[in-house]
Amino acid sequence: MSNRTVITFGTFDVFHVGHVRVLQRAAALGDRLVVGVSADALNVAKKGRPPVFNQDERLEIISALKVVDEVFVEESLELKRDYIIEHGADVLVMGDDWAGKFDWVGDVCEVVYLPRTPSVSTTGLIEHIASLG
Ligand code: CTP
Repeated sequence: MSNRTVITFGTFDVFHVGHVRVLQRAAALGDRLVVGVSADALNVAKKGRPPVFNQDERLEIISALKVVDEVFVEESLELKRDYIIEHGADVLVMGDDWAGKFDWVGDVCEVVYLPRTPSVSTTGLIEHIASLG
């Protein structure tokens, strides 16, 4: 029986139910879940704003989840293939907001895009909280 390692990536800022569900569904696809948490600088590059919680805090939150076996800081989107090889991942899981964007790593592992949980996002939460004044 082979031990299947799943890897996924994200910012996971202002942790919410969409985050926990994608991590639970990713974990269910294998025996071990590794999570690359986007560096603060990568979040600025990707989303045009710094995260609310810094990378050390986000790593601490994600590593406390029982479905997560290992965490590391993702410094660059271009290093995906290197991270996959380094962590011995058999499957890359991404939310379907990234559908098709990481098919280029398909030579080193399987790539699965999972549907997002509707009606919740970090951006939406930040806007909602700001509107409370
Ligand atoms: N995710 C999800 N369902 C949601 C929100 C996020 O499945 N409603 C997934 C994403 O597809 C990704 C992971 O959670 O695989 C981390 O997403 P992230 O970009 O950190 O969260 P968002 O809420 O999408 O953040 P933002 O609004 O800043 O884009």
